[in-house]
Amino acid sequence: MILVTGGLGYIGSHTVVELCNKGHEVIIVDDLSNSQLSVLDGIEKLCGHRPIFERVDLKDKVEVMDFFKKYQEITGVIHFAALKAVGQSVDQPLLYYENNLVVLIYLLQELKKMGGTNFIFSSSCTVYGEADKLPITEAATVKPATSPYGNTKQVGEEIIRDTCKVNPKLKAIALRYFNPIGAHSSGEIGELPIGVPQNLVPFITQTAIGLREELSVFGDDYPTEDGTCIRDYVHVVDLAKAHVAALDRLMQGRNDLNYEVFNLGTGKGSSVLEVIQSFERVSGQSLNYKIVDRRPGDVIQAYADTKKANEVLEWQVKYNLGDAIKSAWDWEQRIKKTTTKG
Ligand code: NAD
Ligand code: WQD
Repeated sequence: MILVTGGLGYIGSHTVVELCNKGHEVIIVDDLSNSQLSVLDGIEKLCGHRPIFERVDLKDKVEVMDFFKKYQEITGVIHFAALKAVGQSVDQPLLYYENNLVVLIYLLQELKKMGGTNFIFSSSCTVYGEADKLPITEAATVKPATSPYGNTKQVGEEIIRDTCKVNPKLKAIALRYFNPIGAHSSGEIGELPIGVPQNLVPFITQTAIGLREELSVFGDDYPTEDGTCIRDYVHVVDLAKAHVAALDRLMQGRNDLNYEVFNLGTGKGSSVLEVIQSFERVSGQSLNYKIVDRRPGDVIQAYADTKKANEVLEWQVKYNLGDAIKSAWDWEQRIKKTTTKG
């Protein structure tokens, strides 16, 4: 049985579906702090059955211990549960260190009691900061974090690496995601940002649907071809499939070391203006946007060298930027229909 923490969230819900598709039995834990129980209905439709769900706040040590006492047949953990708003982490660092690091420690303590298991951790390309060389390989230097959120990913990786060193039965993989976007093609699950979206693509789709006045493009004077920042936007379904590949690697004992790190991206960088153009192409409508000042803390360019994930995980992306943006737009229109119905 595979435990998916944060399994009702954006990336977790898509991963649960891919795990079910591959025949894994899944148990979801979430505290609903950034998700809704209705996501489970979408997952049920796509999986053909309703995975077990337990509402657990993983910051509560007693709740965590009780959960692991109840479910002793867990053979793998995919750990998504975390807070992820970079700006909020600057204002509330302790909340982020508690939720993202104390939670990780509680989980690892339970896995230690079990004698070890297979563990996948959601890390981020944010650990590279402004990389010295592009595309970014896993060997690139981890730069000092510019936010408490980013620091939780760096320290989280170190906590796992150090724990693996002394516990050979703990087998772990940290996956460094680049920029996940898009939604499941069924329209049953997708991203559900609470409040004003901080990320580019949900802000674009919410602007286009009329929820936001206009998109602010943060700076067009960067040293890139069109002056806007470059990122590696990866379809969430491709990303979800990489988790299954990583888990299978550990479960089949194909891992070389008991702690490994992989980049997950497409390998292709796209500028903010290219993302807007792609949106306009797939939606057939023009987007209201204006150029404003740079956003403090933004790196200029980040895109992945995906060779390691391609070769070792035998994982390839299937979707390009246009596919991913189209799925995000379809999803935005679908949730509008659902929320305005009746
Ligand atoms: P999300 O907020 O949609 O999902 C996280 C889920 O975890 C939510 O459903 C939330 O309710 C749950 N959760 C949070 N704290 C919890 C707790 N204490 N106990 C139980 N459940 C808890 O976020 P996401 O975009 O799906 O991200 C998943 C993971 O991937 C996170 O660790 C995030 O830091 C990481 N990540 C995300 C991105 C991105 O751009 N979305 C990029 C890189 C890394
Ligand atoms: C993408 C590009 C913005 C919004 C963040 C986190 C990072 C990781 C991924 C979790 C940038 C520009 C954005 C807007 C804009 N998350 N933009 N107008 O900054 O790459 O990374 O999410 O680990 O930690 O920091 O993603 O989607 O915020 O921005 O012009 O309203 O779009 O400047 O160039 P980012 P993003």
